[in-house]
Amino acid sequence: MLIEARGLTRVHRQGRREVTTLRSVDLDVAAGEFLAIMGPSGSGKSTLLHLLGGLDTPTSGSVRLLGRDLWSLSDRARSKLRRHEIGFVFQLFNLLPTMSAAENAALPLLLAGEGRRRALGKAYDALGRLGLSNHASHFPDELSGGEMQRVAIARALVTEPALLLCDEPTGSLDSASGRVVLELLRVLPVPGRRSVVMVTHDPQAAALADRTLTLRDGHFELNTSLRESHVLIR
Ligand SMILES: Nc1ncnc2c1ncn2[C@@H]1O[C@H](COP(=O)(O)OP(=O)(O)OP(=O)(O)O)[C@@H](O)[C@H]1O
Ligand SMILES: [Mg+2]
Repeated sequence: MLIEARGLTRVHRQGRREVTTLRSVDLDVAAGEFLAIMGPSGSGKSTLLHLLGGLDTPTSGSVRLLGRDLWSLSDRARSKLRRHEIGFVFQLFNLLPTMSAAENAALPLLLAGEGRRRALGKAYDALGRLGLSNHASHFPDELSGGEMQRVAIARALVTEPALLLCDEPTGSLDSASGRVVLELLRVLPVPGRRSVVMVTHDPQAAALADRTLTLRDGHFELNTSLRESHVLIR
């Protein structure tokens, strides 16, 4: 398994109240799998994604990535694992406006201390794979939404991570550029090597995944086929 999450619970403090956002969630993601996570607004999708990516700390429970328990590692080892093995794609792209597409895509490597020439070389390769060779020197405000999201995907892929975490990657795009981005995401899982976990509200996007799970009130719903077989047994 690429990811083994057990008993993930996240309690948030809201003023004087405590709200349980995730309740004891278990999740396995196989290497090479494309998993979609759906669920209503506020059901805990982004919270789960942040916990899986080590961006947030669970109140209890554990996440193993590539067999290593994220929260038993030192801060340094966890950052290194995250930097090399996890790519994030967000709904609002999160590109730096003062950097070109190539510099944005190279950023994870530059932050990891890789030399500028090598980092930019890999960024050009990643942009090429996403059909953006001609846009490498453009700044974000010279790109369409769909192109910005493709730059963000190039940035997420530039370290060749084992896991790509996408939070509503088409949520800000019109349907045409959304489709282009989805077609690109669809071919990113690599058997035994790279998995994609995508949060989405879009049933068409979820349909591209190998498996869809639905979060509701902080835990996974039984999937429909299980529910149906339960009815049959009764
Ligand atoms: N930093 C925070 N502080 C306090 N409460 C939070 C925080 N982050 C999330 N929450 C709570 O957790 C709930 C779930 O949030 P989360 O962002 O995971 O939902 P979501 O499923 O991603 O929703 P959406 O589809 O709107 O993006 C929210 O309703 C909110 O009450
Ligand atoms: Mg969210």
